[in-house]
Amino acid sequence: MTRSLKTLMDITSDEMTEILSRAKELKARIKRREPIDSLKNRVVGMLFEKPSTRTRASFESAISRLGASAVYMPSSDLQLKRGEPVKDTARMFGGYFDCLVARVYKHKTIQELAEYSGIPIINALCDLAHPTQAICDLLTVLEAKGDLKGLKLTYVGDGNNVCHSLLLACAHTGMNMTAACPNGFFPSDDFLSSAKEIANSTGSTLEVISDVRKASEDADVLYTDTWVSMGEDDQKAEKMKIFAGYQINSDLMKIANKEAIAMHCLPAYRGCEITEEVMEGPQSVIWQQGENKMYAAIGVLDFLFG
Ligand code: CP
Ligand code: NVA
Repeated sequence: MTRSLKTLMDITSDEMTEILSRAKELKARIKRREPIDSLKNRVVGMLFEKPSTRTRASFESAISRLGASAVYMPSSDLQLKRGEPVKDTARMFGGYFDCLVARVYKHKTIQELAEYSGIPIINALCDLAHPTQAICDLLTVLEAKGDLKGLKLTYVGDGNNVCHSLLLACAHTGMNMTAACPNGFFPSDDFLSSAKEIANSTGSTLEVISDVRKASEDADVLYTDTWVSMGEDDQKAEKMKIFAGYQINSDLMKIANKEAIAMHCLPAYRGCEITEEVMEGPQSVIWQQGENKMYAAIGVLDFLFG
C-alpha cells in the first residue's frame, strides 16, 4: 500500500515513535560515517511552490545520504504555472518518481497529488500542516530531554501550520501542549479535535489559551514561529499589531521551567516572535533543531519506502 505523509493524522502513535527512533538511529550511523543505502536507485521528486532553505536543502541531502537522487522542481518552471491541472501533473510524477516531496500553498494540492500520483507524497509544508517539521522538533526535544512523555511544550504565536502539526505530534507522543494564541488566531477546530482524539489514548493534555504568561508556567519547551506565514503578506500590518505580546524573550523564559529549552522552526524574525538574546542564548536548541531537519527527513523517507 502506498503511504503518504500528508499530515500526522496519516500515521499512528506507534509509527510516530518508530519514525523518531529511525531518525535517531540513522543520525548516529551518519555521524559515524557509515554508508546507508536504503533508498538505493530510487528517484525522489521535489515540487516547491514556495521558497525554502532548510526543508529543501535537508531533504536533498537526506535523499543523497540514503542512496537515492532528487529532482528539484520549482513550480514556477513547470506547466502548472500555465494552468496545467495538479491531477495531470501528479500522474506524470507518478511515472517518473518513487516518491514526491511537495511544498504547496493549499492542502488540497497535497491531497490531489496523493490521489492521482500513486506514489508516497511527503507534505513539506502547506497552509495547514508542516508534519516533517514537527518530527524534527520532537527529535530535538528527545535529544535534549531524553524522553517526551509528560513534558510540557508551550507554543507561542499563530495557530498555524506549524502549531497544527505540533498538536498532533505532541498528542502522538504523550507530550502536553499549551498553545498561547491571540483570539481569532487559534488553531483550527479540525486539527485540535483530531489531536485531542489521539491524546485520549496517549494521555497527553492539549489546550489553547490567549494568556502567554500563564501558558508558559511549568513549560519544558517554549516554541514559536513567525507571526506572518508565507502567502499572508497582505495581513502583515494587522498581524504585527495583534501579535505584539506573543514573543519569546528572556522574561518569558524566566516563567518557564529553569531547564526549559527555546525552539523556533526558522526562519526567525528577531525582535518580533523571538529576541536575539534568546535565540543566541544558552537555552536555545534552535541550531540543533535546524540540523535535525535532515534527520527527520531521513527518518520519514526510510519509514515510507526504505
Ligand atoms: N523550517 C522550515 O521549514 O524552513 P524552510 O522554510 O527554510 O524550509
Ligand atoms: N508558518 C511558517 C512556517 C515556515 C517554515 C510559514 O508557513 O511560512
